[in-house]
Amino acid sequence: MNAISRPATKMQSLKAMLAAIEEAVSAPLGERHHAVADAIAPYVADPSLLDGMDIPVNPERYARYEIHNDPAGRYAVVALVWAPGQMSPIHAHNAWCSLGVHRGVITEMYYTNSDGETVPSATMLRVAGETSCGPADPTLIHRLANLSCSPVISIHCYGVAFERMSTELNKIYTA
Ligand SMILES: [Fe+2]
Repeated sequence: MNAISRPATKMQSLKAMLAAIEEAVSAPLGERHHAVADAIAPYVADPSLLDGMDIPVNPERYARYEIHNDPAGRYAVVALVWAPGQMSPIHAHNAWCSLGVHRGVITEMYYTNSDGETVPSATMLRVAGETSCGPADPTLIHRLANLSCSPVISIHCYGVAFERMSTELNKIYTA
């Protein structure tokens, strides 16, 4: 008898994405951000990906929720929830970073820094299902913002343990 195929459940989709990420982080360091972004892409816009998780909008600032923290401390996966108008600081990363948009449209702005002056250089709209990534590079400066009228959820994987994310991940710039 043939097995009846069923649509992936929430847990199946999330587990599959995390398994794909786990495999991708074995890529060479210089290629890891691309490998992880490619691993996230097939799953990130699945509407059921985060079903059952309590990830409310925080009206004070964009909210970060832990999805997975690698037991070996090599990486962590988080969901960021953005109310309309909320944005990150202008920053670069001290670790590799891969992200995908789960719901909504996020605006990603890039900057250059010369002689201490940080100026915008490009803006990209990232819709649900799209990914972006970068290596650990203090000159790769960006900001994410929800400039839409609806909440946005994005999935981020960083090459740092969750408990070190707040203190070690970002190099903050001022415009
Ligand atoms: Fe970032």
